[in-house]
Amino acid sequence: MATRARVEIDRARIKELTERESAKLDRRTHGSRDFYARAQKSLVGGVASSYQVRDPWPIYLSHGKGARVWDVDQNEYLDFHNGFGSMVQGHAHDAISKAVTERIGLGTHFAAPTEDAIVVGEELARRWGLPKWRYVNSGSEATMDAIRIARGATGRDTIVKIFGSYHGHHDYVMVSIGVDYDKIGDRFDLQSLPYGKGIPQSVADMTIAVPFNDAEAMERRIERLIEEGRAPACVIMEAAMMNLGIVLPQPGYLEAVREITRKHGIMLIFDEVKTGLCIAAGGAVERFGVMPDLVTLAKALGGGLPSGAIGGTEEAFEVVESGAVYQVGTYNGNPLSMAAARANLLEVMTPEAYVHLDALNERLIAGCEALIGKYEFPGYAVGVGSKGCVTFSTEEITDYASFKANQDAEISELAWLYNMNRGVFMTPGREEEWTLSITHTSEDCDRFVGVFEELAHDLTS
Ligand SMILES: Cc1ncc(COP(=O)(O)O)c(C=O)c1O
Repeated sequence: MATRARVEIDRARIKELTERESAKLDRRTHGSRDFYARAQKSLVGGVASSYQVRDPWPIYLSHGKGARVWDVDQNEYLDFHNGFGSMVQGHAHDAISKAVTERIGLGTHFAAPTEDAIVVGEELARRWGLPKWRYVNSGSEATMDAIRIARGATGRDTIVKIFGSYHGHHDYVMVSIGVDYDKIGDRFDLQSLPYGKGIPQSVADMTIAVPFNDAEAMERRIERLIEEGRAPACVIMEAAMMNLGIVLPQPGYLEAVREITRKHGIMLIFDEVKTGLCIAAGGAVERFGVMPDLVTLAKALGGGLPSGAIGGTEEAFEVVESGAVYQVGTYNGNPLSMAAARANLLEVMTPEAYVHLDALNERLIAGCEALIGKYEFPGYAVGVGSKGCVTFSTEEITDYASFKANQDAEISELAWLYNMNRGVFMTPGREEEWTLSITHTSEDCDRFVGVFEELAHDLTS
């Protein structure tokens, strides 16, 4: 990251603008307020998932089309949230709607394989260069089963993950994320901390976290685990971290991880639930050119229907092929999701779609970067494929520790409010990024940049 002049942002000004913008959003969303009052009586916290909780109330949506969504107050937004990156196709895409509508009339569930499941597997194999595939219904199921396959294949229990990475909500991986910086421990001996209650410490202890972008720390920890008789089954990681804003792998890092894992007989799992179909046709494997043993997909695979997949080498899947490891599920490869995935892969997320996404993202990142320079704003823009963010930090974020130490949570919250009040639907929380859809246009990106300029101006003037 280039060194450049930065202004010091007045904390009182952030507070004042946050209060103003919060009040404005409350005034615009009385319909959501009323839904929340009703929803609280039957839904825990008034929502379907704790990631949808928001104070004073969540924004309830009514519908979406293309790059736009509408809330229950009929406020229209350009969608840069896109269902946490699931809707890279845009909402209600004609090809996916047609495929799903046709499939509904033919029966939606048999718990028996259909042709669409084969077609999807063939296309994923072509894109990822990994020959074998299985399906699940979510990202959490994908990472849970991939870890079981790695454990079954290696006969080992311990697993290694990156500190701060999210891989879904099952116990194996709800470890060492979202915790206070002062609790994480020494860089070479990071703590195994359960993420919330209900996760046994004995399960958490089987998951060892290492810092991102530090192959030396990974290798040292792995060697110690081997000495202790706890050789790991797998390293599960995102090739580019997507829950600290975006943290790209430094040159040579992924190659080094591949070498270390291969040397010690450890399976490498790339969790591509977010990167998957969003950063290239063949995800992070294509983008960064490093081949893991297993990949996990979900989110954008089903064009908005619940779906997920695990891809792998012949060797990795041998334990499933032989029946030694059970990879199962009533709804795995269900016909409705497979019909949507087939249309998505063959008709929607085409090579041209990725050219369009790359061009849009470049424009968006360049637009934000130009404003950061103009206002000497403390931040930088970063992205890949359809994904990006402005990271509110003067230091480059390379891992969890640098994120916790440097990223400005208060400006992140204010930026979200600015977006929401100016017709840009954005992922909430300081950890998230934008996802563009193929239905976004240059003008849509310019609108995002325009809102960012208002924020930069108001905070620096
Ligand atoms: C990298 C990654 N893996 C796994 C998951 C879990 O996916 P799901 O919410 O579909 O279970 C997520 C969800 O955000 C994710 O970002």
